[in-house]
Amino acid sequence: MDKLLIEGGARLSGEITASGAKNAALPILCCALLSGEPLRLTNLPQLQDVRTTQRLLRELGAQVDADPDAATATVCASTLTTHTAPYELVKTMRASILVLGPLLARSGEARVSLPGGCAIGARPVDIHLEGLRAMGAEVTVEGGFIHARALRLRGTRFVMDTVTVTGTENLMMAATLAEGTTVLENAAREPEVADLARCLNAMGARISGAGTATVTVEGVPALHGAEHRVLPDRIEIGTFLVAAAMTRGSVTIHATGSGLLDAVLRKLERAGARISCGDDHIALDMDGARPKSVDIHTAPFPGFPTDMQAQFMAMDAVADGVGTIVENVFENRYMHALELQRLGADIRVEGNTAIVRGREQLQGAPVMATDLRASAGLVLAGLVADRHTLIDRIYHLDRGYERLEEKFRDLGAHVQRVTRIPQEAA
Ligand code: UD1
Repeated sequence: MDKLLIEGGARLSGEITASGAKNAALPILCCALLSGEPLRLTNLPQLQDVRTTQRLLRELGAQVDADPDAATATVCASTLTTHTAPYELVKTMRASILVLGPLLARSGEARVSLPGGCAIGARPVDIHLEGLRAMGAEVTVEGGFIHARALRLRGTRFVMDTVTVTGTENLMMAATLAEGTTVLENAAREPEVADLARCLNAMGARISGAGTATVTVEGVPALHGAEHRVLPDRIEIGTFLVAAAMTRGSVTIHATGSGLLDAVLRKLERAGARISCGDDHIALDMDGARPKSVDIHTAPFPGFPTDMQAQFMAMDAVADGVGTIVENVFENRYMHALELQRLGADIRVEGNTAIVRGREQLQGAPVMATDLRASAGLVLAGLVADRHTLIDRIYHLDRGYERLEEKFRDLGAHVQRVTRIPQEAA
């Protein structure tokens, strides 16, 4: 199994280009199920989760022509051959739940395996199901499968209990083909929700308010083909900026869009970074200084993203001072704390709070990735640790970071993918 071998100590410097956002690409691929005509996507990141979604769409009968080198794919769901999303695929990627709304709206029926638990918490899908019921669907859960039926969904006003990103996306997609108008209240405001709405509107949907807490969808009888460019990945961009800050470096990231990362940039400035943003790039410079500790508490957008929590914990582990981190979105998202401790970090976890006392230096060690963003935190810690850090189970990273080690190497880091452990790191 591949591992990542990192030799710490290099100060990052240079320029890279951001990839398309995983969390926008997945729902957007799934929304192709709503139309019988082709949806052409550009700036599609080449990631394991994108390949899994494409497999799932093919399994349902859609034709997917992907050109990974060009970061494009065309999905055409002219006919669907089944309305069942099998356990084998859903269990590898929770976001598979995103086919539920489109399948139901298009075919009148959907059977989707329950995603089950995951490393970072229980992550139920009750709000997705409640919302579909409110739109007139009959929904049962039996034998590990969600079974939803509705000849045609009906528009309704639905207040979501908790802010849920994929829940908002599922209901928004389902509502595009419903009879009448649907109003989703307490909707997720993430930029990826707004990007999905842009794509759906290009396909003929009538959605307004996406990106705010109230999304209104006027149902239409059918959607048509379209072309859409996936927005940049704010979590990938944030990860590289934190890496630069930790290594006291200076980087410029291109193709960043604007306004996607305000909460993260504010924290980086507080850590001592000089940041300048253009229309489509972000530059960060630490002027060679050690970062200062920052306090963060995670929250739905526009708050500080939970998907950046592990990376900031890694930065606080080498920062000057003591940082307090409060995780408010997922109940079990501190597994990287134990692995960071293996690298010498001083972290005390109490409930959903972690207190991180910055150390001058971490020490390289073998560590294990536990989930996608936790792995990113370990990579960043490895970049500043003494000697070698070997990260196992990097398939987690491959789910969400495109050409991660290449991009780090472009910035001067010593990161390589290995199958065997070289002598010097043993
Ligand atoms: C999405 C992102 C993930 C990110 C997360 C929070 C995708 C593919 N994934 O995940 O990277 O970490 O948003 O920003 O976009 N909840 C319920 N009932 C539900 C649904 C959710 O109680 O029916 C709870 C969850 O347990 C969690 C919170 O709501 O505590 C937020 O989860 P949610 O926004 O749904 O996360 P995902 O959409 O799965």
